[in-house]
Formats: sequence, C-alpha cells, structure tokens
Amino acid sequence: MAKVKIGVVVGSNRRDSINRKLAQALAGLGEDRLAFHFVSIEDLPLYNQDLEAELPQSFKSEIVAADAVLFVTPEHNRSIPAVLKNAIDWGARPYGQNSWSGKPAAITGTSPGALGTAVAQLHLRQVLGTLGALVMGGEAYISFKPGLLDSNGTIADETTRGFLKAFVDQFAALVTRSSFAREAAA
Ligand SMILES: Cc1cc2nc3c(=O)[nH]c(=O)nc-3n(C[C@H](O)[C@H](O)[C@H](O)COP(=O)(O)O)c2cc1C
Repeated sequence: MAKVKIGVVVGSNRRDSINRKLAQALAGLGEDRLAFHFVSIEDLPLYNQDLEAELPQSFKSEIVAADAVLFVTPEHNRSIPAVLKNAIDWGARPYGQNSWSGKPAAITGTSPGALGTAVAQLHLRQVLGTLGALVMGGEAYISFKPGLLDSNGTIADETTRGFLKAFVDQFAALVTRSSFAREAAA
C-alpha cells in the first residue's frame, strides 16, 4: 500500500533553523509509515492580492497533493513568523480555492525558550482552524536544549524521543483514517 503523503511546512527561512532540524528528526520517526515531503516557503513572494493571477502554483500544488500537513514552527514575538503566515495566506487563495480546507494537520515547534513556541502554536491553531484544516489535538511544545539532537540529527533525549514518537504515531493514525474515509467516499 502506498504511504500517506505528508507535506512538511517549516515556519523558518533561517539556514540553520532548529525547527527544520526538529522536522527532519520527526520525519525519521515516521518514515516507515509516512512519506514526508518538505514544502519550501522561503522563496514565496510577499502576499499581495494584486498578484493573485501569478499565484505560486508549485507551492499550491504541493499543498493540494499532500494528504496531510505537518507544521513545525518557530515563535516570533509570541506569534507565528511572517514567512509562515505568508505561505498560509497564499495557500488560502484565490477566493474559493482554499487549499487548507479539510486538510488534516499537526502542529509542533521548538525554541530555546521555556515555552517552546506554545503561543505561536496556539495562534497557528486558530488560523488553521479558521481555514477549515482538521488540526490534531494535543500539545507538543519543544524547548530546544543542547543535546536534544545527536550528531545524526535524531532525538537523543529518550523522554523527548518517546513523547515525539507518540505525537507522530497519533498523526499517522489520524491521516490514515482520513485517507481511508476519503477513498471510501470517492
Ligand atoms: C524576530 C524574532 C522574534 C523572536 N521571538 C521569540 C518568541 O516570541 N519566543 C521565543 O521563544 N523565541 C523567540 N525568538 C527566538 C527564536 O526562538 C530563535 O531564533 C529560534 O532559533 C528560531 O527558530 P529557527 O532556528 O527554526 O528559525 C525570536 C527570534 C526572532 C529572530
């Protein structure tokens, strides 16, 4: 059976993004069951309604092709980074072609701070909920401490690895159920 396709959206355009590292580690925890595809958002133009005729089609089609989307985001000033909001706005347009609607999604993120992107994730949950995405319940706020990842990029801390494995397992169960339901309805 073909693996369920997960589009991974990292809310950072920073070269050494800790969120991209976390996203890669998460993909490693689920790649036996899920096919992860990293969707690039850093080169999208700044959203402008005047430019909708030149919609970034490749980004849009990558979101449409994904059975579900995993968001791994930093927190900027207690909200989501502008680069991520920009991508979400493009994905929601043009009017009547909101690519987030009905899309299963999961949210996590990491920052060096103690709150581990909690506030940004709550904002993101609100935005995606408004757009009709089916956002998985639960919370995964990850504080990025030295030694969290090993030199191979896998999660070295055993407790965190177990917690994030459960998060990926929950997402895999959600997206597999949603895919079966879609196929049954087709
Ligand atoms: C503009 C800006 C605002 C930030 N605001 C927050 C914040 O509100 N909360 C937080 O925990 N970290 C904040 N940080 C620190 C980020 O957590 C840190 O830069 C982190 O490495 C960003 O993730 P990334 O490496 O994946 O880009 C901020 C960083 C920048 C550049």
